[in-house]
Amino acid sequence: MTHKELLAHYREQVEGALEQSQNAYPGHGLYEPCRYLMSIGGKRLRPSMVLAAAGAFGADPAKALHAAVAVETFHNFTLMHDDIMDKAPLRRGMPTVHEKWNDNTAILSGDAMFVQAYDALAKSDTASLPALLRLFNQTAREVCEGQQLDMEFEQRNDVSIDEYLEMIRLKTSVLLAAALQMGAIIAGAEEAQQKAVYDYGIHVGLAFQLQDDYLDAFGDPETFGKQVGGDILADKKTFLYLSALQFSDHGQRKALDGWLGQAHDPIAKVDAVRSIFLATGADNALKEELSHHYRAALTNLEQLNVVDDSRGLFRYLAQLVGERAV
Ligand code: IPE
Ligand code: IPE
Ligand code: MG
Ligand code: MG
Ligand code: MG
Repeated sequence: MTHKELLAHYREQVEGALEQSQNAYPGHGLYEPCRYLMSIGGKRLRPSMVLAAAGAFGADPAKALHAAVAVETFHNFTLMHDDIMDKAPLRRGMPTVHEKWNDNTAILSGDAMFVQAYDALAKSDTASLPALLRLFNQTAREVCEGQQLDMEFEQRNDVSIDEYLEMIRLKTSVLLAAALQMGAIIAGAEEAQQKAVYDYGIHVGLAFQLQDDYLDAFGDPETFGKQVGGDILADKKTFLYLSALQFSDHGQRKALDGWLGQAHDPIAKVDAVRSIFLATGADNALKEELSHHYRAALTNLEQLNVVDDSRGLFRYLAQLVGERAV
């Protein structure tokens, strides 16, 4: 099987398990938005990573399906709440839950999904459950910390690149890293190996969020599935924004400052800020930072003691993440 076929196979297993897991709850009321969000697509990257890591460390990947469902359900919960926080109209090419229903529905159905994640995790082997829970809890808390920083940064204009990188490590990377480590835990990998695969996941996650920032500004509205320009409208301190500030001349800096907090002409704001991103070379700076984390991820792979061609699979995964268009 090629790496691509193997990932497609994992994804298929994940889809089946997710559907089964959602079908265990009523299809109406509180649970309808959960099913809706789960059923409108998603790359299923994180649960596929759980299975990939379990397989790489020598376990039957099917053993990791409950953990995979837990990770993807948790991810969808964070999206439901993130879309309220970011005032996002679109997700996976469809109306967001708070748009289709309302904010209160998205808050409460999101809470229910958070609990569904634990329902799934609790079905894991009792031998690995304590370690899985410790990691899952720490990760969930860190994602909240990252989201808190993301919100705080909207109101600040002195965010450093280092602060930004720490923010995206928390809001995004730790979940990808934990997904891999959970697979390693289920396979009984030793702690040094768990840490190595986690560290690989951190760099993949940083590359992933950098590309997410890039696509939010420059993605194709036909395929991206989210509102292009949403980060600019929300005054997000993304890598593009911070690099543009750093490389801007006096006029560009004044223009960037002037657009902050402006909501009267969204189309003009997105156009103007995006032009400054290009004029200052912020897009190139982002690509350089992304490729740095891609290479760091590959370096971490050298420490891994994995079966067959798993290192090749992880290499392929890192490449996919850096090049993703949706
Ligand atoms: C979106 O994640 C949230 C981020 C951390 C950027 P994905 O891009 O993995 O979203 P889906 O699940 O594939 O829709
Ligand atoms: C989201 O970051 C991270 C979490 C949901 C925890 P973004 O706000 O950039 O994700 P998208 O772009 O809405 O998917
Ligand atoms: Mg968002
Ligand atoms: Mg957000
Ligand atoms: Mg984004």
